[in-house]
Amino acid sequence: MIARWAFLALICIPVQYAQPAPMPEAPSGLRCEYLINPLGIDVPRPRLSWVLEHPARGERQTAYQILVSHDPAVSAGDVWDTGHVASSRSVQVEYIGRPLSSARTYYWRVRYWDSAGRPSPYSAAASFETGLLAASDWKAHWIGGANQLRKEFTLPATPVRARAYVAGLGYYELRINGHKIGHHVLDPAWTTYGKRVLYAVYDVTARLHQGPNAVGVMLGEGWSTSRALLLQIHVDMEGGRTADVLTDSSWRVTQGPIQSDSVYNGDVYDARQETPGWDRPGFDDAHWQPATGIDGPAGVLSAQMMPPIRVTDTLTPVTLTAPRPGVYIFDFGQNISGVVRLRVRGPRGTRVQIRHAELLYDDGTLNVENLRAAKATDVYILRGGGEEEVYQPRFTYHGFRYVELTGYPGAPKFDTLRALVMHSDVQPTGGFTASKTILDQIQHNIVWGIQDNLVSIPTDCNQRDERMGWMADAHLYAETAMLNFDMPAFYTNFLRDIHDIQGADGTVTDTVPHRYGSRPADPAWGLAYPLITWYMYEYYGDRRILEEHYGGVKAWTDYLTTRSKDGILSYSYYGDWVPIEKTPGSLVSTFCYYWSADLVSRMADILNKTADADTYRQLAGKIRDAFNTRFLNPQTGVYANGTQTAQILPLFLHMVPAARRSEAFGALEDSIVYTHNTHLTTGILGTKYLFPLLTAAGRSDLAYELATQTTYPSWGYMVENGATTLWELWQNKTGPSMNSHNHPMFSSIGAWFYNALAGINPDPEAPGFERIIFAPQVVRDLDWAAGSLDTIRGKVACSWRRTRGGLRLEVTVPVGSQAEVRIPELGLSPIALTESGRNVWKDGQYQSGVPGIIRAKTAGGLLTVEIGSGTYAFQTF
Ligand code: BGC
Repeated sequence: MIARWAFLALICIPVQYAQPAPMPEAPSGLRCEYLINPLGIDVPRPRLSWVLEHPARGERQTAYQILVSHDPAVSAGDVWDTGHVASSRSVQVEYIGRPLSSARTYYWRVRYWDSAGRPSPYSAAASFETGLLAASDWKAHWIGGANQLRKEFTLPATPVRARAYVAGLGYYELRINGHKIGHHVLDPAWTTYGKRVLYAVYDVTARLHQGPNAVGVMLGEGWSTSRALLLQIHVDMEGGRTADVLTDSSWRVTQGPIQSDSVYNGDVYDARQETPGWDRPGFDDAHWQPATGIDGPAGVLSAQMMPPIRVTDTLTPVTLTAPRPGVYIFDFGQNISGVVRLRVRGPRGTRVQIRHAELLYDDGTLNVENLRAAKATDVYILRGGGEEEVYQPRFTYHGFRYVELTGYPGAPKFDTLRALVMHSDVQPTGGFTASKTILDQIQHNIVWGIQDNLVSIPTDCNQRDERMGWMADAHLYAETAMLNFDMPAFYTNFLRDIHDIQGADGTVTDTVPHRYGSRPADPAWGLAYPLITWYMYEYYGDRRILEEHYGGVKAWTDYLTTRSKDGILSYSYYGDWVPIEKTPGSLVSTFCYYWSADLVSRMADILNKTADADTYRQLAGKIRDAFNTRFLNPQTGVYANGTQTAQILPLFLHMVPAARRSEAFGALEDSIVYTHNTHLTTGILGTKYLFPLLTAAGRSDLAYELATQTTYPSWGYMVENGATTLWELWQNKTGPSMNSHNHPMFSSIGAWFYNALAGINPDPEAPGFERIIFAPQVVRDLDWAAGSLDTIRGKVACSWRRTRGGLRLEVTVPVGSQAEVRIPELGLSPIALTESGRNVWKDGQYQSGVPGIIRAKTAGGLLTVEIGSGTYAFQTF
């Protein structure tokens, strides 16, 4: 790969234009640790990233300068001035200025020099603020004793800067002077509390004032065993005075209107128990109790450096029916994670019950069978008095499309309920669309399914009594998530969660945090540790993640070695889970063991750990040989019992001896096409790797047929049966067993939509989209496809459409990145590519004969795209 690029680089010499060259523009998209202007950064050397802007094509960064200052205008780099640094690096540049202090705001700007050595203007200022960097910065004490807590305090002068640092377990709602602080819900993220507790930082300056103030907190159970609060507000006032408001035994507590709350079962809220004014100064709390000082969880306090869970959308019901008298069913048309907001007016003490489900019975009533033990029921008891009452549960969420309302005083209307969509607020980064409608419908289900399951950890489902970070599910949809959402901060946190549960013996667990399943994890579940670490490197070029988790990933692999015998790993609990045809667990486990060893060797290569790289490469070789000796029939190329998954796994990782590859692949094709009438029989693992394997083998046509069919088993079958997210099973089941209708693990195919149909691929040789391989599959009856993705370096996009006798392709490459276009179909057609630089579209305009940008290597249909900005289009005739 590198050698070929070196060769292409030689022939890609930009032609000089006569016009004055356009100047570089100020960098945009400034981020710190993947976040925009974050509060609460607690890594000592945060990494800074920016997006290059340049109006000319073929541009890149040759040097940068960063200024960091306490002054918002950043007129000088008084905290850090890098000076002119000759480097093309524009992402994840480590801060190595003066040591950062706790609780300080740092402002920064950056400029860069382009290929001709011309400096850009400085970017607009961005900021990051440190959290509490030392354990001794925490002066507050953990308190508890009830679910509603308050404290009044007086500020002698006007606040000029105030920050609240809060950790409230399981969940908290922070209020100051009558206002809720922050737009999050269900905070903080669920972690292994004995190891780590996350705290959030809020700017509360505008909520405080000179004179009396009050702070109030409600606590929910969440995933914690006890309710506990640690809060510290630091206030700087005019005249240089400061004040600290800390949780301690001077706080007052009571059991408020929340009678009970549970993630699975719902909230019960008695509005008659409300204490109006409790979160404002002047409230009489004489009958409240003093707070109890408690030990609090043992874990270290870490800043929550990822997007919190928020309400991101509000849905209106599409239908409202009454299948029985007094039983009202609202259909929101979409399976979501969240709660409903109720509007109601009625007599004091009226008990309104809201139940949630994914399914209805044929008679239109609610089917909650597949929720198993989760009650998913919220109850609101009216305070009465003639006013309209608005209720929104605080410390629960449900996975649902349908809502049953009972006990409602009178007849509800469409406006009675609104569904509030909740999930970790990772931003969408682009999209995929294609001319085949079913693909858009599947993409819709994938995006909703993933979004619904990003609830501070990547969950398996959103509705029943699980919602766990099952690790196989997590790695199977990680790439699809990374292609649709801004995920690096979220997965950085999840990898740390994995590290937190790792045992001294290297074991990781089936679920993270560990509540369900086993320690050690099934090898296919534990694979999440090496694999998500690796994806972070591929998609974001995150080398620090490799450094941080290398030891852990290696320890997990070493643990597997202790469980292996002669290169075979036999233990397995789930294997290729929920398949149509079952594959031996030992085959699946040994494949995962091989991959883990292979990934350790790759990581070691990157981290220049040469001895380890050799050791683990040899280990991988040994496992591969043992795998083939044990499972491969050398006469037929068939592995084990010849299921599709048994063939897919070794083919996907090139484990098959070269001489047997075509038979092994042939056996897979035969199984799909002839034995199963062009259908897959794979479980969650085989399904993910089948699609890239078929594409790599030149059978995108077959992959496309599987992806677009609507007969069982397929994604289209789910869509045809009314799915709005993806199911857990290929089968359409609705009974009391394991059959969630919102399980994102089969959304692995979404990565193939981007990689193959839209053709967008990160090049692992130059990760983080520093180099991009555009390889769109112009397949069967697909007329066009398009994908776009906001990467850490800027926008990457690819779209294509068939034209009369040819193909029109548009790609977008961030400034500073390189790309390569591969369309093997063109090599097969008699249509040769046009000579270099001809037929270029830019900004929607056809520009004939613009020289020097594209160099076509006409044989095999390979084009190279120069480094550049903007959108390029090529047409073949
Ligand atoms: C979960 C899965 C998980 C599995 C383990 C199920 O109950 O919902 O998605 O991976 O257990 O086999």
